[in-house]
Amino acid sequence: MPSIKDIMQTMEYGPAPESNSEVRAWLDERAAGLGHFINGRFTAPGDDLIEVVNPATEEVIGRVPKGVAADVDAAVRAARAALPKWAALSGFERARYLYAIARHIQKRERFFAVLETMDNGKTIRETRDIDIPLVARHFYHHAGWAELVDDEFPDHTPVGVCGQIIPWNFPLLMLAWKVAPALAAGNTVVLKPADLTPMTASAFAELLVEIGLPAGVVNIVHGDGETGAAIAGHADIDKVAFTGSTDVGRVIRRQIAGSGKKLSLELGGKSPFIVLEDADLDGAVEGVVDAIWFNQGEVCCAGSRILVQEGVARRFFEKLTQRMKTLRVGDPLDKTMDIGAVVSKKQLSRIEALLETGKAEGATLNVAPVELPKRGAFCAPGFFTGTASSHTVSQVEIFGPVATTQTFRTLGEAVALANDTRYGLAASVWSENVNRAIELAARVKAGVVWINGTNMFDAAAPFGGYRESGFGREGGRSGMLEYLALPADKKGKPRPAPTLVPQVQPFTGKADLPEIDITAKLYIGGKQARADGGQSYTVIGKSGQAIGQAGLANRKDVRNAVEAAGKATGWGNVTGHNRAQVLYFLAENLSQRRAEFAAALAASGASPKAEDEVELTIRRAFWYAAQVDKFDGAVTATKSRHVTMTVNEPFGTMGIVAPDEAPLLSLLSLILPAIALGNRVVAVASQSHPLIAARLYQVLETSDIPGGVVNLLTGDRDVLARTLAEHDDVAALWYCGSEEGSAMVEKASAGNLKSTWSDNGRLRDWRDPKQGQGREFLRRACQVKTIWLPYGE
Ligand code: NAI
Ligand code: MG
Repeated sequence: MPSIKDIMQTMEYGPAPESNSEVRAWLDERAAGLGHFINGRFTAPGDDLIEVVNPATEEVIGRVPKGVAADVDAAVRAARAALPKWAALSGFERARYLYAIARHIQKRERFFAVLETMDNGKTIRETRDIDIPLVARHFYHHAGWAELVDDEFPDHTPVGVCGQIIPWNFPLLMLAWKVAPALAAGNTVVLKPADLTPMTASAFAELLVEIGLPAGVVNIVHGDGETGAAIAGHADIDKVAFTGSTDVGRVIRRQIAGSGKKLSLELGGKSPFIVLEDADLDGAVEGVVDAIWFNQGEVCCAGSRILVQEGVARRFFEKLTQRMKTLRVGDPLDKTMDIGAVVSKKQLSRIEALLETGKAEGATLNVAPVELPKRGAFCAPGFFTGTASSHTVSQVEIFGPVATTQTFRTLGEAVALANDTRYGLAASVWSENVNRAIELAARVKAGVVWINGTNMFDAAAPFGGYRESGFGREGGRSGMLEYLALPADKKGKPRPAPTLVPQVQPFTGKADLPEIDITAKLYIGGKQARADGGQSYTVIGKSGQAIGQAGLANRKDVRNAVEAAGKATGWGNVTGHNRAQVLYFLAENLSQRRAEFAAALAASGASPKAEDEVELTIRRAFWYAAQVDKFDGAVTATKSRHVTMTVNEPFGTMGIVAPDEAPLLSLLSLILPAIALGNRVVAVASQSHPLIAARLYQVLETSDIPGGVVNLLTGDRDVLARTLAEHDDVAALWYCGSEEGSAMVEKASAGNLKSTWSDNGRLRDWRDPKQGQGREFLRRACQVKTIWLPYGE
């Protein structure tokens, strides 16, 4: 034992282990294996067991079954049976259960923290100070939503039975992020923890028994990817919520395409950590510690690409190297450790292989001078220098405690580097100049931006990605909406197939209406354009006669339209006031030509009450014009001394595929909310009644809508929809068509994981403002960016 004098000399830390005797006793009692938790009871563990390993000691600490289809089915049936009663409870009653969960977690914080550390390898400091307190916070916050759900979300109902699949990096926290909003909204749950870290979920299930949560409301099925696939694919699941790798997210998107299941995906990231030359460099260095060395770097939103302005780069890296020397890696139960074990030996090899790739591609790996424990899955923290955007390690998630680094000169360069990734989960910006920091926050494509901070989370702050980091948000009001449905989401009547197959023969008939432009063109980039293939198709009117021809657009026309939309970036930057004016002007111009539109609609045979449809369309334009500068983000109460802003940002280019019914009203009901929020659209007009589109572009032209903001195509709905779904520059796609078309669109959109909204071939009453108009359309037309801004010294 060193004397106090020696310690004062060396300032060495002695070991400070957290006791795990209570957890050991708990584990010993369950050594034979933990069962699934189905319908309020634990199943017998059975024979096919997965060994649960403490990655720091390589000891087996438990066993769980590998759930098979029958287990999943039993769990789904239990959740289905429990749903009506649970959904019918008052918000107050559901809130009491959630409060009870929160209270019990708090009472047992230390137990859960130690168990999580032993299962995952993360340090006790983090489980004790971050994971478990955030779990309790999440249940408290959502107890509040349960209480308020009727007031705050009128007309909404629970989605139903939710299948939830979570990863191993924050096991209990991810469970809380999934279970709390689902229960608050009145849903029931089948959740699968990661096979690497199932222990705290089982302990949580025991807690549910203790507080008397009704049987079947939460079911936990253990298992691996196959078990997860069985949950996602189960026919009686209404919603799938997944957190994990982008690859698996894509698999699930394709697997459930066309099923009508609601889906939220929280996937990988390669988040930039941007240090400007006016940053507090010491603060930024501490930021790196929390960005990439937090949780062994196994963090989806880790600041894994450090971007430093050239003038301070050398100084910054010197400081970082110094700071790295003080990091302590070792026994995660030791309260003085900064870094514990990564989750498994397999994950360690994955990390090591990527580090080798980085070196082989020419980058230099700087590692902390630490001595790693002889046993266990430990990885030395570090950072690469000499990395370029093209390097593998700059593009793929290492998911270990190593960042890449790059330098930049100007703000513009920083933005370009930051956005040079397929992901868009988070970003961290360091600058003492609030103007610059916020400018970067606005220009970075990421769902969460921390200014002078990193990896901050709160139950009230929406979290989730742009681009291939997924879609949907967890936390706060946006998170609740992922677990709620509207009447219009319920299965309506199936939509009839388009009334005619496109024909390519030249039109020889005579139009019913002499003033109709009988060879309607496409509208691309603010100009009328002939269809690329030079083809058109015959349009049949009310009396069954040909009334004109419309351009038969092809893939090339879609690409041209997307390109034109991509150039019209100014639209997202003008003020809401300006956009509102343009929308009012559009309403006014429509109104001046109401008789002409009514006549055309009547001739099309698509609208029994043509005049009403035009009138409703005008009203709708007024409604969205009114919303432009009112559909606001919010300032959310999170941590003290932070302003946390949620901003509704446009996607960029959206694809819109309009249905046949109410062809004018439905087309504009889709285009207006999208452009109101600053998106540009490539819209495919009704296949059967396309001539309305040709009239519309004359109105667009006279309404000061800049070229490229609205592009109108006509032709074969599903051919055009597929091209839009596959196009990487289309960020979101709304599709109204057939059931098969919805499946096709959802499957094809998995490439860049675009946000899709398809109606599964079900009719919606566009005339009813509750179905054809509303905040839901606006919400679907934007993505929430959460910006954290600290204040004070
Ligand atoms: P993973 O994505 O395979 O695992 C996450 C969860 O999905 C687990 O519960 C797993 O059992 C389940 N799963 C796997 N295949 C499935 C399928 N076909 N259908 C339904 N569920 C399925 O991640 P994994 O393999 O553990 O880690 C590989 C890499 O993924 C990591 O190195 C990291 O880069 C990334 N990752 C990202 C996470 C994030 O939060 N963004 C979390 C975990 C991993
Ligand atoms: Mg484990």
